[in-house]
Amino acid sequence: MIAPLHYIRMGYDDDGAGLPVVFLHGFLLDRTLWTHQRLALMSRVRCIVPDLRGCGDSSVHGPYSMDQYADDVIELLNWLEIDRAVICGLSMGGYVAMAMWRRHPERIAGLVLCDTRATAESAAAREERTRRIALAEAEGAPAVAERQLPGLVGKTSRERSPEVVAGLYAMMARQPVEGIVGALQAMRDRPDSRQTLASITVPTLVIVGEEDVLTPVAEAQAMVDLLPTATAPRLERIPLAGHASCAERPAAVSFAIAEFLSSLASARA
Ligand code: MLT
Repeated sequence: MIAPLHYIRMGYDDDGAGLPVVFLHGFLLDRTLWTHQRLALMSRVRCIVPDLRGCGDSSVHGPYSMDQYADDVIELLNWLEIDRAVICGLSMGGYVAMAMWRRHPERIAGLVLCDTRATAESAAAREERTRRIALAEAEGAPAVAERQLPGLVGKTSRERSPEVVAGLYAMMARQPVEGIVGALQAMRDRPDSRQTLASITVPTLVIVGEEDVLTPVAEAQAMVDLLPTATAPRLERIPLAGHASCAERPAAVSFAIAEFLSSLASARA
């Protein structure tokens, strides 16, 4: 489906009924990253899965920043007339989820932060983002996808699940260059979110693939350590999965999210 927002058109899926849960994909990906979770959870909750600006079926024009992505998602919620939702983001989607908390905490009922980090970029990482921007502009999405793929999936998926690896590569290679460049700029320039984590007051689950080399388990644990006790912080480690845990071990991630959502429902009962 397409939502005609004020400044962009946003591609999204909206399935199921009840508690709204928004799923945000990572860099170089699109909403199909969350297909398993959408299909697994739509009988329990309302799954809203957008393409971020510049990805999938959404418009490609800027400006691009984590704040802009966050405001786009809020605009989608407004258009759908949803007051509050659980926000679940993987990697760059997690950066967007934290920006949403910073800017619109009253719209968030709970957070699931998957394979992401709260720190900003080091000087070296910023330089690498700038090099990737040049690569995207010169050689297009497939060249960036080739550089991204080794870090995206874990060792086990690389060895045993060629179809998962091929599916993720195809998703990355079809993204528009304008969106890739915009996302790289937004990630390069994003603020540190550690203070944001420490300010969260809603239940929060952190998920990480045990084979994630981009945002490893230690990074996820550091996020959990920053979360206030009132958020009932919990770390769910997904064995045999890397950075794209929701695609590599989809059932395990869907189960972890389902359990978290049930705990929210029982806390409210
Ligand atoms: C992602 O998967 O969204 C990216 O790897 C995040 C990043 O590069 O920081």
